[in-house]
Amino acid sequence: MFRESFKYYKSKDPLPTFEDVLNIHKPKLLLNNGIITKLAINKSSPQYGLRSTEDWEVYVINSRNGLIFIKNPFTPHGQRYWITRCLKDYSKKPHKLNIDNTNILKSDENWWEEGRKNKKIIDSLRWSTFGYHHDWDTKIYSEENKCPFPEDIKNMTKYVAEQFGFDDFTAEAAIINYYHLDSTLSGHTDHSEQNLEAPLFSFSFGQSAIFLIGGETIDEKPLAIYIHSGDILIMSKESRLCYHAVPRIIKTNYEVWNDEYQMENSDFKHWEPFNNYLSYSRININVRQVLNKGQLKL
Ligand code: SIN
Repeated sequence: MFRESFKYYKSKDPLPTFEDVLNIHKPKLLLNNGIITKLAINKSSPQYGLRSTEDWEVYVINSRNGLIFIKNPFTPHGQRYWITRCLKDYSKKPHKLNIDNTNILKSDENWWEEGRKNKKIIDSLRWSTFGYHHDWDTKIYSEENKCPFPEDIKNMTKYVAEQFGFDDFTAEAAIINYYHLDSTLSGHTDHSEQNLEAPLFSFSFGQSAIFLIGGETIDEKPLAIYIHSGDILIMSKESRLCYHAVPRIIKTNYEVWNDEYQMENSDFKHWEPFNNYLSYSRININVRQVLNKGQLKL
């Protein structure tokens, strides 16, 4: 069932219809039909590029226990901050990239600087990992394969976690996925972490996506949900171990990340390369806790 849905939404010919895709940005019908429920959270002041929590719109998806959707709680300035970090900084050493061990970059070159001059280079980056590096072959984390986790993203994730009572959450591993309009991410579960109770945090910026979330086996038919720039998904409780995938990236007609730019800056030049990249790309920051509470290492 999962594979069929993935193929359906991935297909370029015939094109799928999107009528069954949940658009939580237009929640009215979904609320009335009992598909989602609005969640109230306590008031907290704006920080880390997020708006005050009293302005957050948070929903739980009733058929997926523990799946929380936060409708873009970032300010436009906040979105630009995290986008800039993903492109300019999180894509650098000591982080691991899919293009390591290829001849795309020389050892002293950096992806963002070289990529700005060369389209082939800019389009070659698919992922970056930090903290405990995800090992794509063995799927095993190790003490020998890790680097420092940047403080800003660690603190921002902790802050979001605390709003939902996940007070012990510590960000220990992250994957940044860089998608283009023809990219997909096939169905998988995330079960390499020793701590499978701690939720997964997923932050998306740039172009929109269809996100599929199924059950604990591929036999269950997944739900399809639109993810737009700034949206946060938290996979906790049962949904933490559910199959998920991104079968399609969709070009948005609302570039929310450009809002208010002219108010802050008279000169667009600084932001232009980031904006050019985003015009055909989506960035997803996926943050996990690896260790159990009190565990100091693997
Ligand atoms: C992932 O599951 O690792 C990424 C999901 C996404 O891109 O939304």
